[in-house]
Order: sequence, then C-alpha cells, then structure tokens
Amino acid sequence: MPAAGMGVRLGPGGPKALRLLRGEPLLVHAVRRVAAAPSVGCIVVAAPPDAVSDVEALLAPITSGPAGVVVVAGGATRQASVALALAAVPASFDIVLVHDAARALTPPGLVEDVASAVRGGHGAVIPVLPVVDTIKRVDSSGAVLGTVDRSSLRAVQTPQGFRRDVLAKAHEAAVDDHTDDAGLAERIGVAVHTVAGAEAALKITRPFDLAIAELLLS
Ligand code: CTP
Ligand code: MG
Repeated sequence: MPAAGMGVRLGPGGPKALRLLRGEPLLVHAVRRVAAAPSVGCIVVAAPPDAVSDVEALLAPITSGPAGVVVVAGGATRQASVALALAAVPASFDIVLVHDAARALTPPGLVEDVASAVRGGHGAVIPVLPVVDTIKRVDSSGAVLGTVDRSSLRAVQTPQGFRRDVLAKAHEAAVDDHTDDAGLAERIGVAVHTVAGAEAALKITRPFDLAIAELLLS
C-alpha cells in the first residue's frame, strides 16, 4: 500500500495518508478495509520516510487481526514506494495487490474480486469504471481537436492485482514514472484483465473528494 505521498493537491496539512477523515487517518480507513478481505494475509505499507514509527503505532491495533502489517519507508515517487514495499512482501506470497492509501473507502469486496481474478489465472488485474463525461482532445490553446469515443474508455482504480513475478518484472523493467502498476505490466507485454470497479473506491485527491468521503461515512 503506497502511502508516502505528500498530498499536494489536497492542500496544506501534512502527508495525505495521515490526514483525518471522520477523526481517523485515511491510511487507517484503507488498511482496515483491506485487512477485512479474507484473501489478504499481509499488508506492507510504504509510509512517509519520517513517519515510519508513527505509522507502525497507528496500525498496531489493526495488526491484531488475521492480516499482519509491515511498515517500510516510501520513496520519492509512487513507483519507488511500490517497489520498496514489494521488496518487503514475505516470500511466501505469490499474489500481490497494489492499493493506494488514498482510496481509503475501497470496499473489501473489491479487494476480494481482484484477488480472485488473479487466483483464477490472470497475471495482472485492474478494477475499472466506465467514463461518464464526454471526453475531448484539445491543443495547448484549449481549442478542441476532436471528441474521443468514450465507449472504449475506462477509468482505472486500485487495488491492482498481480502474480508476484509479473509485478517484480514490471518494476525491474520500469524506466520512467508511471501512475499505475498495470501500465508497467503492459510495457513488458503482459495482458491486463479488467473487473468492475466500485464508486466508493474513489481516490481522495482534492478537497472535494475528502468532502465526498465524509458524506459517504455520514
Ligand atoms: N504515494 C507514495 N509515494 C510517493 C507518492 C505517492 O506512496 N512518493 C502514494 C500516495 O500516498 C497515495 C498513492 O501513492 O496513496 C496515490 O498517489 P496520489 O493520490 O497522487 O497521492 P499524493 O502523491 O500524496 O498526492 P499529490 O500528487 O496531490 O501530492
Ligand atoms: Mg501524487
């Protein structure tokens, strides 16, 4: 679980994963929901490097459940954080899901759907939603160049699930920063399977998203 980002788009207030939603850090919401998925045996969190021991203390009450929690220091980019966390996944696990702490309200059922699609034989699995807005291509001045056929477009969420060897190879081959791990898998020619995403798995990016999350919990 990459959780080391600064949350620049959310505005001032410290690392996003530690920002409060209904009195609890986003990371606590996210870890609790992932830990509730029966398939999950271990959660590795990539924390802001100066907050590793704080995050360990924060998650200690959740570690008492069936899924163990390991906290490592994250990196300068999301991709680096995922690579650092992946290196700390115990060797006994051969399926790995990558999940943004910022998708704090992701239902455990979505975690389970992704895990079972990987277990069913797909090397890489992503949850997706249809795109609801009309999408245009524009030039640098803002003039419309054309309308994109949205019927073949999907918005991508996490958790993204992988056979461990696929994810490790994808990260080894990575040259530039990607915002998702399936993009790295595509680069090395792995077929990526989609499952239905969940609206509650929205990524809390801007203040508006945090307000939506507050409403969802009210
Ligand atoms: N992330 C990370 N390490 C980084 C950057 C991002 O672990 N160096 C994590 C974030 O903590 C988040 C997830 O990747 O859980 C998705 O990133 P994003 O939503 O962009 O979060 P931030 O990078 O924190 O936000 P911003 O881009 O607005 O600064
Ligand atoms: Mg970011």
